[in-house]
Amino acid sequence: MNEFTFYNPTKLIFGKGQVEQLKELVPQYGKKVLVVYGGGSIKRNGLYDQVMSLLNEIDSEVFELSGVEPNPRLSTVRRGVEMAKENNIDFILAVGGGSVIDCTKAIAAGAKYEGDAWDLVTKKAFAKEALPFGTVLTLAATGSEMNAGSVITNWETNEKYGWGSPVTFPQFSILDPENTFTVPKDHTIYGMVDMMSHVFEQYFNNATNTPLQDRMCESVLNTVIETAPKLIEDLENYELRETILYSGTIALNGMLQMGYNGDWASHNIEHAVSAVYDIPHAGGLAIIFPNWMKHNLKVNPSRFAQLAVRVFNVDSAGKSEEEVALEGIEKLREFWSSFGAPSRLADYDIDDSQLDLMADKAMANGEFGNFNKLNKEDVLAILRASL
Ligand code: NZQ
Ligand code: ZN
Repeated sequence: MNEFTFYNPTKLIFGKGQVEQLKELVPQYGKKVLVVYGGGSIKRNGLYDQVMSLLNEIDSEVFELSGVEPNPRLSTVRRGVEMAKENNIDFILAVGGGSVIDCTKAIAAGAKYEGDAWDLVTKKAFAKEALPFGTVLTLAATGSEMNAGSVITNWETNEKYGWGSPVTFPQFSILDPENTFTVPKDHTIYGMVDMMSHVFEQYFNNATNTPLQDRMCESVLNTVIETAPKLIEDLENYELRETILYSGTIALNGMLQMGYNGDWASHNIEHAVSAVYDIPHAGGLAIIFPNWMKHNLKVNPSRFAQLAVRVFNVDSAGKSEEEVALEGIEKLREFWSSFGAPSRLADYDIDDSQLDLMADKAMANGEFGNFNKLNKEDVLAILRASL
């Protein structure tokens, strides 16, 4: 293991009916509350009315920013920052999925920054301060509810970057599995692909002696693999939603990443693809990750073989480590395809015309990846294999 410091100040509130806790939590931060949400799912499923009536009970002065896009845009962040500054907002409440939460993080930090919020996303400036914010999560996927990360897209320049700072952890996050009942099948699938990918990004690291971390990662993967096929046939099953909601948070709240750096190259490549084509984040990951794995298999075949045996039940008898590893990668692709996740860029009508542009976007900050450093040729090879 490498030396590490673990820090996660987010209060996690989990279970049926817990949204009621907003009545005790929100007044701790002040009266003026900016509620941030997406394109209307919370209005259709009743959560919007529930949250508004709770805020009304505690006499909050409510402001609203609606219409946060999946792959949230800088233009919406800027609108939110303006609202927060003009109205002296005390607290921001994000009600939605990862996009709404990521947008809220940028608004919270942007509201305490003199320049343009894009400086924070591009790391031209570091967020030293942010308005306090909390979340009511409605989609299990990103882990944004309990981490400091945020991913913002600038459509003027086709750039999509992840950023974060110790001040962009939510103060609290409320997770009620019932609030995820209405997530449609496709986004339920994307969410499970995303959380599995987060575990893979961490599992492929260069540290030695991480037996507990390995087993923790494998447990999350095995749990999602066991639960996913049942959940997509039974979208309003409380226990299945509960398991997946908790898995998504654990997959990316820092618990699995103690003692090493994760790789995160597949995420970087996917962000470049969705900066150019606006496809769902985890749709892109389902296509790219198995190809990243094949491309990097030789870096440490035994790590891939361990995953194949312990998670994908590959029988290793009489096979080389590389054969076992490859069988595991094929099983992963089969598993994702079995419930309808895309496997080729062609599934989104993406051809080879912008490969160079996407590779350049991925290379914006130079070579990347911690398990194995990738250069532009590597990125192009992974993208070509994904066509
Ligand atoms: O906008 P609304 O109407 O709310 O609809 C959303 C959206 O269309 C819908 N939805 C959410 N909750 C629902 C629901 N529909 C019905 N019932 C509900 N309860 O689902 C659609 C997708 O929502 P979105 O928030 O975009 O999905 P997700 O949570 O997967 O977030 C994706 C974003 O997070 C970033 C991605 O790049 C992408 O921009 N990521 C953030 C990370 C982080 N902060 O740590 C890490 C991730 O790797 C990821 O990169
Ligand atoms: Zn992700």
